[in-house]
Amino acid sequence: MAPAPISPRVTRDPEGLARRFPAGFQWGAASAAYQVEGGWDADGKGESIWDVFCRRPGAIEGRDTGAVACDHYRLWREDVGLMAGLGLNAYRLSVSWPRVMPAGTGAVNQPGLDFYDRLVDALLERNIRPLVTLYHWDLPQALQERGGWAAPEAPAWLAAYAGEVGRRLGDRVSDWVTVNEPEVIAFAGHAAGVHAPGLRDWSLALRVAHSLLLAHGQAAVALRAAAPGSRVGIALNLSPCHPAGSSEEDATAAARQDGYLNRWFLDPLFGRGYPADMVELYGGLLPASAVREVEGWTGGLDFLGANYYRRRVVRAGPARPLGAEPVTPAGAAVTAMGWEVYPDGLHELLLRLHRDYHAPEILVTENGAAFDDVMAGAAVADARRVDYLAAHLGSAAAAIADGVPLRGYFVWSLMDNFEWSFGYGRRFGLYYVDYASQRRIQKASGRWYRALIEAHSLRAALG
Ligand code: FCB
Repeated sequence: MAPAPISPRVTRDPEGLARRFPAGFQWGAASAAYQVEGGWDADGKGESIWDVFCRRPGAIEGRDTGAVACDHYRLWREDVGLMAGLGLNAYRLSVSWPRVMPAGTGAVNQPGLDFYDRLVDALLERNIRPLVTLYHWDLPQALQERGGWAAPEAPAWLAAYAGEVGRRLGDRVSDWVTVNEPEVIAFAGHAAGVHAPGLRDWSLALRVAHSLLLAHGQAAVALRAAAPGSRVGIALNLSPCHPAGSSEEDATAAARQDGYLNRWFLDPLFGRGYPADMVELYGGLLPASAVREVEGWTGGLDFLGANYYRRRVVRAGPARPLGAEPVTPAGAAVTAMGWEVYPDGLHELLLRLHRDYHAPEILVTENGAAFDDVMAGAAVADARRVDYLAAHLGSAAAAIADGVPLRGYFVWSLMDNFEWSFGYGRRFGLYYVDYASQRRIQKASGRWYRALIEAHSLRAALG
């Protein structure tokens, strides 16, 4: 069956689309250390929880691991060339904590820091502004053994590591993301058990989520102390949550889904504490001290990073504690992840962040799609990804027209990479990676993104 088309309103014309973005807009692509670097034990790197989790039978499709990944640890120069080949003026990377601090605390592994030092220099030489994420899921295993994110010391661990990275890179890097997707870290890792460290305990997951918020706050302080002028944000995975039907039960399920996914993080970060309805729902799963600890607290964000892939449609169901179960609307277009393609959700989300939370600045720190790309000759004709990106950028442009302070957009991902529990079987890249040869091939979507960026810079040059 042919996939359902994305809305016919979508304009793919790069010039038409470019016109809708302001001068100075950041055009980026994103990646993360464990998903691209490989070099899992190179030059003194310590083990991360993902190195360990990948060895667990059945954890990862095809028994894939990130041990080699895209071999970016060795091929980084070439990869910076790929970015320049797209015309990017920004790139989001993450630093591997166990590469920099093999035991998680204490001694710094200089060769590990040197890697990022050189990478940052190479980016700047190409006029590509680095956006550096400190924690994109690869906790040093040594820290997991000391209690992981639930340990009371965890926020201080992140802050100490942040200080080291800030002192080394902060003279050239000004934009930082402390933590990527605390909801996924906490709940996929500690409640569903499908991500490292593979635990299944809702109460633990809530304590981890809390610890990640505090860790964000402490890391922000450490970064600003190490590198004055740092601009610090956090990247949240956010989705509008819609009820499947018109019943009151479905509406309640959607409100809870929203409380779980969006408000649980946004409310405390913007000074509102935890949402009362969810505190009540979670009851004894959450220590009362956690609720008190975020009273009067804020995340002190210079910008908010929003990772947007899809909306969530839910109906009432028996699953506890949320009483919501996911639904894919009939006839919806879906990606290879099974995620509904819903570009309007980005506009809806950005407006909410602006109007309800007054986010000072927003970056779309991830947006993109996996499709079953095939190499035909030397080409990858990924027309559906072009449609996906064009539609979402159209939605972002509509938000800008509505006054949303959106400053940049990062495609997930620069190149195909290790997609966590799905291994190499899901391809999100603007470049196709032939893993056997480590050859990178620009997809049609890469060519299209390049044309868009070029059209935008041409307009800026013409005034
Ligand atoms: C996000 C992750 C990113 C990538 C995309 C597809 O949740 O931040 O690493 O795997 O999903």
